Parts: sequence; C-alpha cells; structure tokens
Amino acid sequence: MMEYIGATGIPIQFDNVPIQQGIDFHFILSFAIDANTSGNTQNGVFSPYWATTLTPNAVAATKSRHPNVKALASLSGWSLGSKVLSWYNPRDTNLWISNAFSSLKTLIINYHLDGIDIDYERFPKHSNDTFAYCIGELITLLKNQSLISVATIAPFHTTIFPYIELYERYEDVIDYVNYQFYTDKVKTPEAYLEVFKNRTQQFDKEKVLPSYEVNGRGIQGDAFFEALGLLEDNGFDVNGAMVFSADASQSNGYYYETQIQNFLLNNSTT
Ligand SMILES: *[C@@H]1O[C@H](CO)[C@@H](O)[C@H](O)[C@H]1NC(C)=O
Ligand SMILES: *[C@@H]1O[C@H](CO)[C@@H](O)[C@H](O)[C@H]1NC(C)=O
Ligand SMILES: *[C@@H]1O[C@H](CO)[C@@H](O)[C@H](O)[C@H]1NC(C)=O
Ligand SMILES: *[C@@H]1O[C@H](CO)[C@@H](O)[C@H](O)[C@H]1NC(C)=O
Ligand SMILES: *[C@@H]1O[C@H](CO)[C@@H](O)[C@H](O)[C@H]1NC(C)=O
Repeated sequence: MMEYIGATGIPIQFDNVPIQQGIDFHFILSFAIDANTSGNTQNGVFSPYWATTLTPNAVAATKSRHPNVKALASLSGWSLGSKVLSWYNPRDTNLWISNAFSSLKTLIINYHLDGIDIDYERFPKHSNDTFAYCIGELITLLKNQSLISVATIAPFHTTIFPYIELYERYEDVIDYVNYQFYTDKVKTPEAYLEVFKNRTQQFDKEKVLPSYEVNGRGIQGDAFFEALGLLEDNGFDVNGAMVFSADASQSNGYYYETQIQNFLLNNSTT
C-alpha cells in the first residue's frame, strides 16, 4: 500500500490514517523539492516541503507503533506554492547527483525514511537523457549505501517517455511503479482494465500498482473495487495499490484506505 501524505499543507497526522496488520504500508511524504522557498532550483539540493506536522518524531512514532510502516520522500511533485516545477538539464550532472545524494542522505537520516519516490511531472522539450541518468544513478547510490531499501516512480500519461527511459536503464533498483491511472480519466472498470493492460506493456506488471485519487479524476467510488476485481479476473495479481491522498481522505473517514487494505488482505488469503 502506498499513501501520499502532506502535499496540501493541512495539519495532517499519520495517526489519522487506518493501518492494518499484514499490509506493507508506505507513507509517501509529499514533497522533497530541489528548490529554495522562492521556487528557484538549487542544483540538486532537496528540502522538505511536506506538512510541518509530519516531523521526524512523528515518523519515528508511527513506525514504532506499526512495524509494517515505511516512509518515503517523494521528489518534486507538480508545484511549490504557485510555482510549477519541472525537471531541468543540470549543467554538471555528476554535481547534481552528488548534491542530491548528500541532501537526501540528511533528510533520510533525520526523518527515518526507507525510500524515495520519483514524481517529476514536467520536462523540458529537449530533456536529453539527464533525467534517466541523474535519477537512476541517485537511486543506485542511495541503495548501494544502504540509505534506502525502496524506490518507486510515479509516471502519468504525458510524462511516460522519460520514465520509460529511466525504467529501461535502471529497473533493477526500481521496486514499484505508482502509475497515476486517474490522469487517464477512465471512469468504468472495463476502461480501467484496458489502460492497465497498456501500462503493464510499458512497465513490468509485477511492479505496476493500480491507483486511486480521492475526490479526484478517473474512476470514483466502489467502481474502483470492481475494477480491482476485473484486473484479478484477467490474470493480474493485485497485491498493492496507491492512493492520492491522505489529505483528501480526512473528509471521508479514510474509506478507500480501509477498503483497499481489506481487499488486499482478502486477496492474499485466497
Ligand atoms: C532563492 O534562490 C535565488 C537564486 O538562486 C535567490 O535569488 C533567492 O534570493 C533565493 N531565495 C531565498 C528565499 O533564499
Ligand atoms: C545532454 O545534457 C548534458 C548536460 O547538459 C550535456 O553534457 C550533453 O552533451 C547533452 N547531450 C546531448 C546529446 O544533447
Ligand atoms: C555497492 O557497490 C559496490 C561496488 O560496485 C559493491 O561491491 C557492493 O556490493 C554494493 N553494495 C550494495 C549494498 O549494493
Ligand atoms: C492502448 O494502447 C494502444 C496502442 O498504443 C492505443 O491505441 C490505445 O488507445 C490505448 N488504449 C487505452 C485505453 O489507453
Ligand atoms: C473481504 O471479504 C469479506 C468476506 O468475504 C467480504 O464481506 C468483504 O466485502 C471483502 N472486502 C473487500 C474490500 O473486498
């Protein structure tokens, strides 16, 4: 289970979110950004911009209460305040990697993190191969130094190509694909299955997680669980899911988080 948390700035707490035993539950702190508070890029130096309620002590406390919880930092996201963020081609890629490695090492240690998620959502016209190289080498280095055990990527339909390039070169160090199915805006279980089939041609089906945006785009309500059932009926093993986001779920008592975990637990015992 993957749950984005902390992107909107509301005073969200980990404790609000129901966590069931037997589920590998990943909180994805949203977001760590290569920018200063004015939104200017910092050549790979990442700072935390998630809700200030999600402190290092809060991460430690939720992990000690729930040994099945892991925490990840998601890199970038769509915007910082009103500033829309984008990947850029660093002039010196090795310097970028080195800055990213040391700033993230500090964050990972301070916040007791287990991994990173890659959520760049815009790319320059000529992004060349700097994204695949910088991000792939960064993940490799963080894993090699045993600073992280989990790395995930979060492509969506218009960003698919740079992520495919990254995945093809570095799939050994990428554990899950948090593909944002809601951006395809399909509304029915049948259409969800078709999109899922397509995306699992591009990324290994064992790593692609179905996803749900609470109060969002794409399939909504219990039709999502029909879609998961349909995936199962068509030979996909649904052993995880991604939700965006805990912030939005506060208003509905975490219905989808609860039901998805029930689905996964039901599924793992049958
Ligand atoms: C952010 O960085 C830019 C350029 O690097 C600088 O001009 C600006 O003063 C910085 N803003 C803050 C708040 O540090
Ligand atoms: C890609 O970008 C890097 C860094 O800016 C540069 O060194 C390299 O020459 C570029 N490669 C191509 C094919 O444009
Ligand atoms: C890190 O890389 C070195 C050199 O390639 C390798 O010998 C070592 O086994 C790696 N360690 C881990 C934990 O991957
Ligand atoms: C699936 O991929 C095919 C070939 O790229 C494309 O024509 C079709 O529109 C896609 N369908 C969906 C539902 O994304
Ligand atoms: C889990 O299984 C129980 C018992 O079969 C069923 O009542 C419940 O609806 C299932 N929940 C989900 C979310 O699939």
